[in-house]
Amino acid sequence: MEDSKLWPAPDKFDPDRFDEANSKARHPYAFCPFGFAGKRKCPAYRYSYLESTVLLASILRRFHVGLQVEQQVKHVYGFVTHPDVEIWVKVTKRT
Ligand code: HEM
Repeated sequence: MEDSKLWPAPDKFDPDRFDEANSKARHPYAFCPFGFAGKRKCPAYRYSYLESTVLLASILRRFHVGLQVEQQVKHVYGFVTHPDVEIWVKVTKRT
């Protein structure tokens, strides 16, 4: 994530670098946050995924995630079902 040949402006917070269009040309091994494979791969990678899930669950307990505007969203069925448009969400504190 620090190699500017693969990640232009590596220090910039830019989630758009992961969108489909910007990821197409990138080598699939450019993003391996826990290492590649074998003995040196992070031994805690499963734990870290679990921890991320617990963090997300904790956030969702405290906040409600709803649609930003009234959007007409249709399912696009496939191997992974997904919405036909980008969804904008609004996060509000649960009371
Ligand atoms: C989001 C969290 C984490 C990330 C992104 C991460 C990432 C990494 C990476 C990139 C490596 C080097 C892999 C390689 O050399 O190929 C590594 C190694 C290691 N990580 Fe993590 N790690 C995370 C969390 C943790 C946690 C929570 C622990 C311990 C509880 C841990 C323990 C280790 C150890 C002991 C190694 C050295 C493995 C070895 O060289 O034999 N990591 N980690």
